[in-house]
Amino acid sequence: TSPLRLAVIPGDGIGPEVTDEALKVLEAASPVKFEQSRYDLGAERYLATGEVLPDSVLAEIKEHDAILLGAVGGKPNDPNLPPGILERGLLLKLRFELDHYVNLRPSRLFPGAVSPLSEAVLGKGEIDFVVVREGTEGLYVGNGGSMRTGTAAEVATEVSINTAYGVERVVRDAFARAQRRRRKLTLVHKTNVLVNAGALWWRITQDVAREYPDVAVDYLHIDAVMIFMATDPARFDVIVTDNIFGDIITDLAAAITGGIGLAASGNVNPDRTFPSMFEPVHGSAPDIAGQQKADPTAAILSAALLLDHLGHADAAARIDAAVLADLSERGGSGRRTAEVGDAIAARI
Ligand code: NAD
Ligand code: IPM
Ligand code: MN
Repeated sequence: TSPLRLAVIPGDGIGPEVTDEALKVLEAASPVKFEQSRYDLGAERYLATGEVLPDSVLAEIKEHDAILLGAVGGKPNDPNLPPGILERGLLLKLRFELDHYVNLRPSRLFPGAVSPLSEAVLGKGEIDFVVVREGTEGLYVGNGGSMRTGTAAEVATEVSINTAYGVERVVRDAFARAQRRRRKLTLVHKTNVLVNAGALWWRITQDVAREYPDVAVDYLHIDAVMIFMATDPARFDVIVTDNIFGDIITDLAAAITGGIGLAASGNVNPDRTFPSMFEPVHGSAPDIAGQQKADPTAAILSAALLLDHLGHADAAARIDAAVLADLSERGGSGRRTAEVGDAIAARI
């Protein structure tokens, strides 16, 4: 078989450190060869050249089978790096241009991983759910602006865009996933306040539900989801929600399942019109960057999602199993980033 083409964007902060380990494990597990192209996009390139994601680079990236990304974003309040430049210009631009409408964020409490939840909560059942976060619409679209900027009369807006087309395709994907799992889907929104977008999400979910009579459908307001994440997360199987709610839910979901160092994600284009992109849920963690302190597990599990997406479910399962084995012996060890990667790769 011909090699798969992999675009690698290590990015900023701990991004390159965790990406190195993910590549190590990917190569150990994959039955096929990867031909890698590395793209030095991120804060350094922007500060040196003013470039964030040149059109020619975007066009090249589109020619790959998949993308592995570390993290992007500089130190908070860096005067040379206005907030959002890299996040919007690089990360979100890729998600939008490559039509990553399913932002897939699984959360599982692996045996050996340490949850801050009490025994009483953990005793209610296994934590194993997936958040299907819409990835191309909502508040992230950039529909808004600032008027009379910097004055006492300033007006700032970000308008959430929700289209029937965009909601329906992600809701359909979530139902299909629920059917392959425990057949429970929870729609999360805030229909009591966001009545326009809420009504659209609600109606489409009810409509699609008729095609999936074996999937039980539940609805929760976003604020109530925060309660249940802390008191009964075992109730969740598939959660479907918009871009911003999904962003917030998945950091909390990470925190209750062993921490942000374990949370993987895929920005998936289910129609395969463009390559999908896999990255940890966490950011560039400037507070620990360059010190080999970052946990690369989230990046490694993201590489497993990448393999699964490319049709190599067995290889993905080997990575999951190696991570599981590593976690069960990890304890409170303060291993270096590369040591964790080596240990997991050695188990493949
Ligand atoms: P963050 O996820 O980078 O860090 C939050 C906290 O978690 C920090 O204390 C950090 O040290 C810790 N942490 C994160 N990943 C870790 C890991 N693998 N191992 C151990 N500890 C880890 O979030 P933030 O501080 O809000 O954002 C920092 C920068 O990253 C910002 O510029 C932000 O915009 C960007 N960001 C990027 C992404 C992405 O690329 N997908 C995601 C989130 C934030
Ligand atoms: C994430 C991040 C991004 C998001 C930011 C950095 C644009 O927080 O991947 O969760 O909000 O989607
Ligand atoms: Mn986030």
